[in-house]
Amino acid sequence: MSKEQQIDSLLHEERRFPPSAEFAAQAIGQASLYEQASDDREGFWATQSRELLHWHKPFTEVLDWSNPPFAKWFADGTLNVAYNCLDRHVAAGLGDRVALHFEGEPGDRRDITYAELTSEVKKAANLLSSLGLTQGDRVIIYMPLLPEAIIAMLAVARLGAIHSVVFGGFSAESLRARIDDAEAKMVITADGGNRKGSVFPLKAAVDQALADGKTSVEKVLVVQRGGNEVEWTSGRDLWWHEEMTPMSDDHRAEAFEAENPLFILYTSGTTGKPKGILHTSGGYLTQASFTHKNVFDLHPETDVYWCTADIGWITGHSYVVYGPLANGATQVIYEGTPDTPHPGRWWEIIEKYGVSIFYTAPTAIRTFMKLGREIPQKFDLSSLRVLGTVGEPINPEAWMWYREVIGGNTTPIVDTWWQTETGAIMISALPGVTSTKPGSAQVPIPGICVDVLTEDGQQVGPEAGGLLVITEPWPSMLRGIWRDPERFQETYWSMFGTRYFAGDGAHLDKDSDVWLLGRVDDVMNISGHRLSTMEIESALVAHPMTAEAAVVGAHDDTTGQAVVAFVILKSRFAGTLSDEEVSHQLRAWVGEQIGAIAKPKRVFVVAELPKTRSGKIMRRLLRDIAEGRDVGDTTTLMDASVIRTISDSVNE
Ligand code: PRX
Repeated sequence: MSKEQQIDSLLHEERRFPPSAEFAAQAIGQASLYEQASDDREGFWATQSRELLHWHKPFTEVLDWSNPPFAKWFADGTLNVAYNCLDRHVAAGLGDRVALHFEGEPGDRRDITYAELTSEVKKAANLLSSLGLTQGDRVIIYMPLLPEAIIAMLAVARLGAIHSVVFGGFSAESLRARIDDAEAKMVITADGGNRKGSVFPLKAAVDQALADGKTSVEKVLVVQRGGNEVEWTSGRDLWWHEEMTPMSDDHRAEAFEAENPLFILYTSGTTGKPKGILHTSGGYLTQASFTHKNVFDLHPETDVYWCTADIGWITGHSYVVYGPLANGATQVIYEGTPDTPHPGRWWEIIEKYGVSIFYTAPTAIRTFMKLGREIPQKFDLSSLRVLGTVGEPINPEAWMWYREVIGGNTTPIVDTWWQTETGAIMISALPGVTSTKPGSAQVPIPGICVDVLTEDGQQVGPEAGGLLVITEPWPSMLRGIWRDPERFQETYWSMFGTRYFAGDGAHLDKDSDVWLLGRVDDVMNISGHRLSTMEIESALVAHPMTAEAAVVGAHDDTTGQAVVAFVILKSRFAGTLSDEEVSHQLRAWVGEQIGAIAKPKRVFVVAELPKTRSGKIMRRLLRDIAEGRDVGDTTTLMDASVIRTISDSVNE
């Protein structure tokens, strides 16, 4: 099916699922929120922020948009983010509530209450400040999904310092690039973590990243988890457990300004270099907690919530750490992979903890669909009452399967659209209000204004497609790209002035509901993870064998898109190795340069690449070839025969 046909069939999706009367009656998010927000948008956010958070010094200003695109929210208020996630719950008598049900991949488990988590974070804050960490310093966190990773994030936040979590699947090279860009003073890591039944080393990658000694990093704190052998640089490396033992759990949380930076999270853009997306405190926490409560219908006294994201991604920041903990939720965190030691592992965890709210990515759902419904049907999933998805478009088939097989035909599904840059959910149904449609993310949440525009900035109106924009500033919006204000302006604000350009194509249906159609730039979405074609191309051409490379995201039934690379070898290498061997070497190389997630699924060795007369690689044609379609119009190509040669060699 061509993309146009796919869109057409999507938009004819007629199934509708209104909330049941019982669900609607108990729902947290009510229709009145939309009215309140449209009557007075800023007043609405101010009310939410006052109700949801503890402000040490209450704010009097709501939004300062006098110097767009640089927004300030609640700027004259002060708060401590970690205090909001911890101490205030203990002070309210909720210290015995479980904050984290940690499940390790090998089956070990720990339940950590709010009182215990608060005490650990206070100790960690004392430790970090004894090591010289102060407000504004940067700390890299490179860890498996362990309670200590969350403790580390909150301890950094408690001190007003800035964390930058690097996903454990990124390579030493990627880690180093982030350490350098952030000029991090400290790295917090683990010896190793459990994945697919074995231990993967993390400390070794840190050692490699810091090997030349020419870095800003002064200390490396190492959590013991994998039990694997590690090398030790004395004076620099410290065991977390040894350092934590003597620490006092008495620590007063200082209040910081609402715009104090909270974290930097690197994400792929359209150029080779990842962007350090900067988020600050008060506005971010307001929207993370508002959406977590209303979109997932959180009843913190009774719900058990589980978001399967890793803390290395924005979903882990907003919906594992900050949103749930600010709301005093009880949640499950799981260290390992969904299929270890058996393919029913996730459903077993849902049964074991009685998970009631479950949030995951469409790729995972499609993978489970392939494995068959018999696997989840072996487990009791009747505790589930709200299901969510994030990260990529969900096809109506997968949506229906999720509802029927996992949700027992009753649970509402919220398809949530947002980005690293938006910090929190922007477009989603409210489960007690919206009549849901399989495949559409539907409506902006209360207080958020979006539109779909043509390239020259005209509104497309219902039953038409275009580019998704956010027309008004929002509390959890990115405040910039770390130390690169020009790139910030250029990337998001040069297209439509003060309207934020999201980089996604979207279609409005006859009800003006939004259907997301994927990226319109050179960003790929593989299993809900963002990767840049340029970044992988740069990695490929850095290999001594490669002369030129072009990368495209080709449609993949399970992962949404898959990385497909076309490479031209330098003449002295051409014909010296089999195509298979070249592919093997280049895939391994990309794994080292960026990380395993970026390894191309397929590498085609070609003699030429299709280019326009001005020398631009025509990725559209390569995508057609990779997806096995007829290449359309080739009239702008410099040499149309190139395409035939490539498709012949690919078809071989
Ligand atoms: O293309 C959109 C897609 O993921 C991109 C953002 O990626 P990232 O910053 O890594 O954040 C992912 C998790 C929030 C978007 O530009 N995307 C995210 N959610 C959806 C989606 N596409 C369609 N439907 C969604 N629900």
